[in-house]
Amino acid sequence: MNASNTRVLLTGPTGFIGGRLLYALDQEGFRVRCLVRISEELVIKRPLKLEPEVAYADLLEPNTLPQAMEGMDAAYYLVHSMGGRSIAETKAFADRDRKCAKNFLKAAEEAGLKRIIYLGGLGETGDKLSKHLASRQEVANILQSGRIQTTALRAAVIIGAGGASFELIRYLAERLPVMMCPRWIKTRSQPIDVQNVISYLVGCLRQPATAGLTLDVGGPDIITYLAMMRIYARVRGLRRFIFTVPLLTPRLSAYWINLITPVPAGIVFPLVEGLKNEVICRENHIRDLIPIELMSMEEAICTALTETEKGPGHLPSRQACFISAKGTWG
Ligand SMILES: NC(=O)c1ccc[n+]([C@@H]2O[C@H](COP(=O)([O-])OP(=O)(O)OC[C@H]3O[C@@H](n4cnc5c(N)ncnc54)[C@H](OP(=O)(O)O)[C@@H]3O)[C@@H](O)[C@H]2O)c1
Repeated sequence: MNASNTRVLLTGPTGFIGGRLLYALDQEGFRVRCLVRISEELVIKRPLKLEPEVAYADLLEPNTLPQAMEGMDAAYYLVHSMGGRSIAETKAFADRDRKCAKNFLKAAEEAGLKRIIYLGGLGETGDKLSKHLASRQEVANILQSGRIQTTALRAAVIIGAGGASFELIRYLAERLPVMMCPRWIKTRSQPIDVQNVISYLVGCLRQPATAGLTLDVGGPDIITYLAMMRIYARVRGLRRFIFTVPLLTPRLSAYWINLITPVPAGIVFPLVEGLKNEVICRENHIRDLIPIELMSMEEAICTALTETEKGPGHLPSRQACFISAKGTWG
């Protein structure tokens, strides 16, 4: 789509992915309208070329959506409902996410949008998917069931400052010199750098061949969570001893992680439950459609650490943190 004639509705602009995508779309010349919940405020952390429009609306309140959608050509769907302070608060996230997706699709169809781009999660339904990953797939199915050409990207852990999964890894590795971990620490995943994800999201809008497709996105490394912790510790120069304890259930480990890290219980529980599922790309078609240079896990961690220190958008120099020679991470 041609940037200057394309009006883009961005949901989730106060979030980890949406906040970064707003900046990238602006740099590419797209005209962006941000859908922000009435209770929230959009804080713009970096100067933008074009002040974005803001539409105050809530996906759980269908009557607020027509005005937010009016005149839009395309929309990004970057919303989920996990994240309450308590487990009780987050319990009904799948119901809320189902309602949000249905309300959004109905309003988008009525407003005549031509494209939807959604970022959800990897994981195969045959693998007894966790509630969180199953809900992410359900949202993809709802959005793709409509008349609008919908691209669904599927990602595992996204590495970047402020991302819930990355912050879990970071807090655990920073705070615990000795870690006793459950079996899930040996589950394999295919993490991807957040800036790579942003490039794919923008690329989907530019590349018509991605319309209507489901595309897996992953970085170059297929590694266990144990390996991710080890890479993190190595990049930071920390000595860490990690043991596996077979009897630690996901629920118990979530309670324990909740004590150690400030990440809200409402996110920790669904995420930890999902760690039992392997999340690996089943195809790499996106690499042909949108060729970009993918960052290794180590480079992604370095970038995230530099960003934490200096603020969003500051890319690290290779000297900024210790980058080891390539090795086997197990
Ligand atoms: N982070 C990762 O590692 C990761 C990995 C794979 C896939 N993803 C996918 O990426 C997408 C974005 O995730 P994220 O990490 O950016 O999440 P996030 O930081 O938690 O942001 C979620 C956004 O959803 C908004 N939202 C929630 N309920 C809403 C509602 N009823 N109406 C309107 N907006 C609502 C929130 O707005 P408020 O500020 O008002 O709460 C927030 O802006 C999700 O689909 C997620 O599954 C993320």
